[in-house]
Amino acid sequence: MTSLNKKSIEDIPVTGKRVLVRCDFNVPLKDGKITNDKRIVESLPTINYLVKQGARVILCSHLGRPKDGFAPEFSMEPVAQRLSQLLGQPVAMAKDVIGPSAKELASSLQDGQVMLLENVRFHKEETKNNPEFAKELASLAEIYVNDAFGTAHRAHASTAGVADYLPAVCGYLIQKEIQVMGKALENPKRPFVAILGGAKVSDKIGVIRNLMDKVDTLIVGGGMAYTFIRAQGGKIGNSLCEEDKLELASRLLEQAQAKKVTLLLPVDAVAADAFQADANTQVVAANAIPDGWMGLDIGPESLKLFSQAIAKAGTVVWNGPMGVFEMPKFAAGTQGVAKAVAESQAVSIIGGGDSAAAVESLGYGDQMTHISTGGGASLEFLEGLELPGIACLENRE
Ligand code: 3PG
Repeated sequence: MTSLNKKSIEDIPVTGKRVLVRCDFNVPLKDGKITNDKRIVESLPTINYLVKQGARVILCSHLGRPKDGFAPEFSMEPVAQRLSQLLGQPVAMAKDVIGPSAKELASSLQDGQVMLLENVRFHKEETKNNPEFAKELASLAEIYVNDAFGTAHRAHASTAGVADYLPAVCGYLIQKEIQVMGKALENPKRPFVAILGGAKVSDKIGVIRNLMDKVDTLIVGGGMAYTFIRAQGGKIGNSLCEEDKLELASRLLEQAQAKKVTLLLPVDAVAADAFQADANTQVVAANAIPDGWMGLDIGPESLKLFSQAIAKAGTVVWNGPMGVFEMPKFAAGTQGVAKAVAESQAVSIIGGGDSAAAVESLGYGDQMTHISTGGGASLEFLEGLELPGIACLENRE
């Protein structure tokens, strides 16, 4: 599934109706304060539309992974506060999810008013997609809107189950994510360059397979590159290597050749003598890493090679860092790739998670065409998988 044939909030009358909107307000928090509100900001177009139409808006989301029952550190309270600032109107906060507080607030909502339920994961039934729980949640409203792209890969009660009990449509954020990424996959401006990084080949097999038929150039960096380099007979010292994926890596290299996809691997590496921020480092050929050393970032020649391919691209999709970018000594590769993507004229799409965080923290956010709000969800989308949170919505005629 790469394009969206689902009904949206514009396809259904919402005025005066109680509308349950599943958002992904799973935002990072430090000492109870939100450190990045992108996911809240990205939910505003849908909420503002519903408010303007005079809907009675009941928002819900998960936050983190609480065990079972209420835990103050996972309360949605900070989200309600931030939302209310951003919307410029009060957001009433329920003390529970399907309990008396939620029910009372939901039934007393007036047209254009907004409320937020407590963390749906305070009920273990949420992640189990329990039908009774989904039904209770649905009973708060007359319409269900899913706009939680970041959680659309989860078949949970509030992301999928609830659609069994209410008319179910998507919001603007899901629509935007699918349209931008779907277009890149279906009809990309060429050359189409995909950049994949991160630690493990096993996490990215599905994406590599799906993209192999679509891209012109596949750049592989990060820890996963060493399994490929080893499969080619390179010496990788103590670098990450998934022994059980060596054969697969060889096959993928062959496939790339057969399909005339240019597969670029790092040619040099910043090697360290320990997996530590203050380790000793040296730049070496990526296929000649000395024993006892491990590649923790791509080297300057690799960055040059990758940047040249990125500069020529018509479309770039990037998912996964080039090295251990949390440690300053091994951040240059990821930073350099972020700069190259920002400076290119290409349609640039950044899968969520680490690459999105890197791009934003470096201040390149505005130079990208699209930064997905979904980490796992964007990865599954790029794998060509059907996302349960989208599959459950009503189709357009
Ligand atoms: C995310 O941050 O990727 C989503 O909010 C999903 O969260 P989860 O991995 O805890 O389901």
